This record gives sequence, structure tokens and C-alpha cells, in this order.
Amino acid sequence: MTRYQRLGVNIDHVATIRNARGGVYPDPVRAAKIAVAAGADGITAHLREDRRHIRDEDIRALSAEISQPLNLEMAATDEMLAIALRHKPHAACIVPEKREERTTEGGLDAAGGREQLAPIVEQLGAAGIRVSLFIEADPKQLDAAVALGAPVVEIHTGRYAELDGAAQHAELDRIVAGAAYAAGVGLECHAGHGLTFDNVGQIAAIESVAELNIGHFLIGEAIFGDLDSTIKRMRALMDNARANALGARSA
Ligand code: PXP
Repeated sequence: MTRYQRLGVNIDHVATIRNARGGVYPDPVRAAKIAVAAGADGITAHLREDRRHIRDEDIRALSAEISQPLNLEMAATDEMLAIALRHKPHAACIVPEKREERTTEGGLDAAGGREQLAPIVEQLGAAGIRVSLFIEADPKQLDAAVALGAPVVEIHTGRYAELDGAAQHAELDRIVAGAAYAAGVGLECHAGHGLTFDNVGQIAAIESVAELNIGHFLIGEAIFGDLDSTIKRMRALMDNARANALGARSA
């Protein structure tokens, strides 16, 4: 188990607040720079088709101004492919997108959407962009990611985050098994969606999960404190969870 797990900070909801009033405040690039200074290993931004938060200009500015890798979350469309190829972010995470949803609901159907996904994964990869597929912890979907040639998967933790008690345990077991399966078939495994101070530990402790992407909670919590200390606390919770898991395994 590698002790260190990367933290990608998603700054979409800084743009949500900005867009509520129009204008330029608060600035997602400023948030990204604070996140990097606080220890974020990367910045994640989702350019949705309806531009409800991040806009094209934000992607341009983030690409130009941040020192850590940019992970562009995008739907598998020709428009988004063209934007990704123009900006060449370090990584592109392909997500399912429905206009009427409030946030990304459920994982991508990599198994059922092979025809649409294959040329997009192929062109992103050929441009040197590290492609990740946001999917459920389901061997069928993980096998499909391998067949598509995606080097990375991000396991959807949204359902785990919403559940509690025995149902949450069962979902955690599914994620743990999925992450092990992903590692077994040679995929780099990330995880994200709905993670908070309270629920991050069990996901951070999963051996093969190399990166977490966290947004909404961090931006929301920063309202009550500040972004710098909120990110540092999340970082510390991840580090503690991994150190404990490592200790338990070697004991
Ligand atoms: N990972 C992916 C692929 C996502 O779509 C999102 C939400 O944009 C996140 C992680 C972050 O989720 P949250 O904002 O709930 O932390």
C-alpha cells in the first residue's frame, strides 16, 4: 500500500456562487490557488454542457494559472472532446451528464456505451491526456474500462455517502471489492463524490485508491471557516486513515 493518496480539489461550486450573481466574484482560480497552497495535488473542474458553474473561460484561466495538474470532468461529447484537446489538461474524467440532474448521478455505463466512448477515450489518450472513467464499483464496468483502454477509473462514492448503517457498510464493501478488482486488472483507481470529514476515512483507507476528488463539502465548509484550513483538515483525515490502515495491516 502506498501511504500517500492524492487529493484533487473540485472548485465547481465557487463558480456556482459566482454565477448566482453574475460578475467575477468569487473567483474559482483564486480558490484553486489557495487549494494548491493548502496541499491539493490537483484541481478538478467539471465543464458541464449547460455551463451552470464552470465556464470555458475558467478552464482557460485554470490551465494557464495553476501549478498543479488539472483534471477536467467532461461528458463524452464532441464539443467537450474539442475543448479538452484545445487545453490539454493533465487528465480528463469522463462522467455521465443529464441536464435535469443536480449533480452527477450514478456512474458512466462504460459497458453499454462502448461505441460512443471508444473514439473519445482514444483521442484523449493519443493527445497525452490521462483518461479516467467515472463508474460504479462493478466488475462489468471495470472490465469495460480496460477494454476501452482507459488507464484510470474513478469509483463513484455518492451512494456510499448518502447511505448509513448496514446499507452503507454493504456499499463500502462493494467499493473495497471494486477497488481491489480494478487494481487486479491494472487500472489506477480513484474515488469521489459526496465525501465529507465524517465519511472520508473509510474510503481513504482503501489500499488501491490512489486519489480522491472532493468538492462540494470543502467549498461549503469553507463558508464557516476558510478554504485553507478546511483542505488541510481533509488532508489530515486522509493521511490518518491511511496510516491507521497501514498500521493495522502490518500489525
Ligand atoms: N468526482 C466526480 C467524477 C464528480 O463528478 C464530482 C462532482 O463534480 C466529484 C468527484 C466531487 O464530488 P463532490 O462535489 O460531491 O465532492
